[in-house]
Amino acid sequence: MGKGYFITGTDTGVGKTVVAGGLAALYKNKGLNIGVMKPIATGCKRVHNTLTSDDVVFLKRSAEVDDEYELINPISLEQPFAPTVAARLSNTKIDLEKVRMAYDSLCERHEYLIVEGIGGLLVPVDEYYFVVDLANEMELPLIVVCRSNLGTINHTLLTVSYAREHGLDVKGIIMNESTEKCDDVTRMTNAAEIKRLTNLPILGMIPFDKRLDVNKFNKEALLEIFRDKIDKDIII
Ligand SMILES: Nc1ncnc2c1ncn2[C@@H]1O[C@H](COP(=O)(O)OP(=O)(O)O)[C@@H](O)[C@H]1O
Ligand SMILES: [Mg+2]
Repeated sequence: MGKGYFITGTDTGVGKTVVAGGLAALYKNKGLNIGVMKPIATGCKRVHNTLTSDDVVFLKRSAEVDDEYELINPISLEQPFAPTVAARLSNTKIDLEKVRMAYDSLCERHEYLIVEGIGGLLVPVDEYYFVVDLANEMELPLIVVCRSNLGTINHTLLTVSYAREHGLDVKGIIMNESTEKCDDVTRMTNAAEIKRLTNLPILGMIPFDKRLDVNKFNKEALLEIFRDKIDKDIII
């Protein structure tokens, strides 16, 4: 089992990038050799004929790494769709060997790696190859990022049960409020139910905070919030 975490979510937009960046910033702040990776990104911006993902820029700045962009994000696709669809639309096929080679290089350079998945576990990466398969190949423990509000119990239990069925080591759950503040009763009762039904720890509860906007990188706020809201034991 590698050192670090594979960050997945119950959906897109739940806060995987913010959480992956927050954890990477905490590792870096502790003086640990941390690397980051976003193996596949879609919806990338085209600038001077190269594709760049906002997620990758955020992760790179959070971890303060100078690894080549192509290693952190070996597959960048322009269309904002699932990887298989975005690849088909640009008449390419996702080259998993490229992902494996980049991952191996980053593992050699860094003691710990935080890898952000794409969407959720059943997002197709190749015809019959899914994010869950990628997480399995990387042999990293899994952290599931979920919402705090109504509906999250179902999404989180489905994700955890699927991960376990596929042999992943699920380390725990991080609840994140990416769109709006959640009321205390909803947040606390959802956390308790998820804990009871999965037997997993809630490793953190990240409140809605405008300073966590992925497009307005604020390292001080990221560190301050994550230091305060994340279980210290997961930074090892
Ligand atoms: N705790 C939070 N407070 C405020 N905004 C957040 C928070 N978490 C995420 N966001 C915002 O919500 C959007 C989705 O979050 P992101 O981390 O990109 O999700 P994902 O990587 O799962 O798609 C981003 O614009 C991000 O800035
Ligand atoms: Mg993201």
